[in-house]
Amino acid sequence: MSTHPERSSNPLREGLSNRPMPQPCTVVIFGASGDLTYRKLIPALYNIAADGDLPAALSVVGFARREKSDASFRSELEEATRKFSRQGLNEELWQSFADRIFYHRSEFGDLEGYQRLAERLDQLDRERNTRGNRLFYLSVAPGEFGGILEKLAAVGLNQAGPGSWARVIVEKPFGTDLPSARSLNEVVNNVFSEKDTYRIDHYLGKETAQNIMVLRFANAIFEPLWNNRYIDHVQITAAEPLGVEGRGPYYESSGALRDMVQNHLLQLLCLVAMEPPTDLAADSVRDEKVKVVRALRPLSPEAVAQDVVRGQYAAGSIQGREVPAYRSEDRVSPESMTETYVALKVHVDNWRWAGVPFYVRVGKRLAKGGTEIAVQFKNVPGVLFNRDLSVGPNVLVIRIQPDEGISLRIQAKHPGASVKVEPVKMDFHYGTSFGKASPEAYERLLLDAMSGDATLFARRDEVEGAWEFVDRIEAAWHQHPTPPPLCAYASGSWGPPEADALLERDGRSWRRM
Ligand code: BG6
Repeated sequence: MSTHPERSSNPLREGLSNRPMPQPCTVVIFGASGDLTYRKLIPALYNIAADGDLPAALSVVGFARREKSDASFRSELEEATRKFSRQGLNEELWQSFADRIFYHRSEFGDLEGYQRLAERLDQLDRERNTRGNRLFYLSVAPGEFGGILEKLAAVGLNQAGPGSWARVIVEKPFGTDLPSARSLNEVVNNVFSEKDTYRIDHYLGKETAQNIMVLRFANAIFEPLWNNRYIDHVQITAAEPLGVEGRGPYYESSGALRDMVQNHLLQLLCLVAMEPPTDLAADSVRDEKVKVVRALRPLSPEAVAQDVVRGQYAAGSIQGREVPAYRSEDRVSPESMTETYVALKVHVDNWRWAGVPFYVRVGKRLAKGGTEIAVQFKNVPGVLFNRDLSVGPNVLVIRIQPDEGISLRIQAKHPGASVKVEPVKMDFHYGTSFGKASPEAYERLLLDAMSGDATLFARRDEVEGAWEFVDRIEAAWHQHPTPPPLCAYASGSWGPPEADALLERDGRSWRRM
């Protein structure tokens, strides 16, 4: 594969769609004293500014309960940005960026605080020429969504003035099951229309996730093979060496299936399995993804027992460090039945994918971190070089992270007089080919929301469809009297042996990462 990008005027080079430049606006972050603001949101906005993509007229208002001044908020954010920013902090740039950040103290439930917010936003519009455009970012627990949205509506902040816009970004978890997701959607859509609602799934903002569509639809060689005639199966893996990292209470009520599969992994599956959209408009792309969600074969309790493995990490050692069992983590029940690992076999029941299993696995405290999609092609016939069936199949691996890139395993002749066939790799690395670091997911997503491009955000029907699929698994896990077992695995391993058996039964095995 060529390792240097050609210079061309191909609009896809700049992203999945021809995004207009972001317009002047004010970004209002609810829950501004939370971790996400410090680790992701402000560093992302700073990096957008450093890349020269932030509109000159832009203000950021942090809305939170704690007592802080604009100055103390700015200096905390400076420290965080120094630590978490993708690019080093340029003092001059930071100063001009920080001058646009403000802190607004209020309880979430205090209507008067929203009235003051509305006045402050009007004043900022006048002083900063932000034209009445507002992006509200709900970085709060889902239980707070309803109250905040209701109060925004009560003071009219959900309504944009003529020629302006008002949008809302909603963070995950977006519900805990289908009924709760539906009622959250009702709450949000009572206040903001679906077109102004941006549900974040940060995996969609990852450069390599966006590249799946480019790989499939901007190359002639893959798409003709991208179906059940040539593909044997697909594996999607998201492995993390980290544990729950102080998020015990959240994780106890969530587990790996709701935390990762319902959103990130099903989104990746949709990008791999979807049909080509007619154009790159947000709804054209999302229509195709929804069709995949609808085609997921619903799992009966028997199928869950057979095709879904749930696991929980026991104590173990990762990179030479002893780590405790999940049940010994802070604020986790010593008898917890929450899964920290899931492996499942999924079928997409449509014309293209009939008979091709998608194996999905995700887990915490695994041996190594990495997210990848491996598309394994069917083997060549058992003749010529494959008489003894020793020639392995071609595998196309899309590495979402780390070491973002794509590799294709092909068979080659080992040099020498005898005919010995050996697998070799054609490898493309983002880092070396493009010579610049990929933007962080939140950079891309904030920029898109400011520009009014919802392509990389989850639509209501996608989210609800994914919950419908996942709810059946949860229901089977909680059925009485004999729910399927929760399998223990040692921290630092690759998950429970039952997950290996899931593939072995089909004559396959997980790819070693
Ligand atoms: C989050 C989950 O959505 O994604 C976390 O809540 C998980 O549990 C994280 O660790 C993984 O994201 P990334 O970008 O580090 O792969």
